[in-house]
Amino acid sequence: MNKVIERAERGLEGEVLIPGDKSVSHRSVMLSGLSNGTVHITHFLRAEDCLSTARGMEMLGAKIKHNDDGSIDVTGCGIHGMMEPCGIIDAGDSGTMLRLMIGMLAPQPFLTTFTGDAALYRRPMGRVIVPLTEMGAQIVGRDGNRLLPITIIPAKKKLHGITYKMPVASAQLKSSLLLAGMYAEGETTVIDPGMSRDHTERMMKAFGVNLKIDGNSVTIGAVDELKAPETMAVPGDISSAAFWMVAASIIENSDVLLKNVGVNVTRTGIIDILREMGADITIFDKHESGGEPIADIRVRSSRLHGVSFGKEIMPRLIDEIPIIAVAAMFADGDTTITGAGELRVKETDRLHAVATEFNKFADCIDELDDGLVIHGQGKSPRLSHATCKSYDDHRISMSLAILGAAGDGVEIEHADCVNISYPTFFDTLENIRK
Ligand code: S3P
Repeated sequence: MNKVIERAERGLEGEVLIPGDKSVSHRSVMLSGLSNGTVHITHFLRAEDCLSTARGMEMLGAKIKHNDDGSIDVTGCGIHGMMEPCGIIDAGDSGTMLRLMIGMLAPQPFLTTFTGDAALYRRPMGRVIVPLTEMGAQIVGRDGNRLLPITIIPAKKKLHGITYKMPVASAQLKSSLLLAGMYAEGETTVIDPGMSRDHTERMMKAFGVNLKIDGNSVTIGAVDELKAPETMAVPGDISSAAFWMVAASIIENSDVLLKNVGVNVTRTGIIDILREMGADITIFDKHESGGEPIADIRVRSSRLHGVSFGKEIMPRLIDEIPIIAVAAMFADGDTTITGAGELRVKETDRLHAVATEFNKFADCIDELDDGLVIHGQGKSPRLSHATCKSYDDHRISMSLAILGAAGDGVEIEHADCVNISYPTFFDTLENIRK
């Protein structure tokens, strides 16, 4: 589906209830599916990625009921009650599902094979397979056990815990090893070189798991049971809210209220950077829900200026680089982003996609090996109307839509990939257009 977005001439206004967090939704259905009871999960993200995880858990024995109000009820099969799937598990476009499930299934006494879409076939899985093999797992895949399709062969004996210093600050890798660690003999310690998101740790605690957390290191021992909480509320996804934060900042005469946004500190790098750029962001009504902090966020138009940031903050805003690049195009002065090499192995090579497609609006972005330099065009830039590729990447498609709405319009090819994380994105854009 191609999508045409017109310029938002008069600004954006209104309230947006931010859909459920993708990372938390994946984890909620996985841990509930391994629990000893039924968990009522509200605000679950009913988008393609999380539905792939739900289907995968059903193939392993969990029971899932989808309710009309968007909530789901997950009845677990118990931590040791999963059964051999009688088919290939399809992770679709989801790196999170695949990496976490490889960790969860590596210790099981049955065979599992995974597939996924064309983009997932290109994404590196060696980073989870190497440490899991060190724990005693037997995992094979294409290209020297690095790429899909991947098969987990029942391990000869129980996995054993290891201490693992992750080469990249990756929540997916950390979570994969913690899930495997629940079944291993002895303790598994994962040391993170950065501050990757901690949703797995928070949720494991909510299921009664005893974790030892010491700075950037997490230790888990064998777990006998996951105690099902009756309900679990998924916070709104700050990575989805980010599109409206930037849109309202750069489109003149805008004032939007983003409701129910998860503001876990491992995810709020976008707020820190936008504020440093001069954005007008107010956070209200901050409180805890389901072990995660949430808040409402008001964003009004402002004049932005360029900033420089790098590796340190990257895990806290890794998915927001494309939309930050949009903000930077509307800023005064240059923005330099470094330490972002991980973007080359996301749903697409996002550094290349941003540089190639955004330059069609104004030739103002230089691509670095590990980042971008964006030469800001100021508050009211002259941008061309462009026809752009989404690269089937949801975050590229949404960033292009905001760029078109703030500039002189855009036509996006294969725009419907927004269904991966934000199926109502285009409706919301129309609803808040003044
Ligand atoms: C995610 C972690 C991040 C992020 C991805 C979701 C997660 O990936 O980019 O969209 O749910 O754990 P890495 O941990 O691999 O950086």
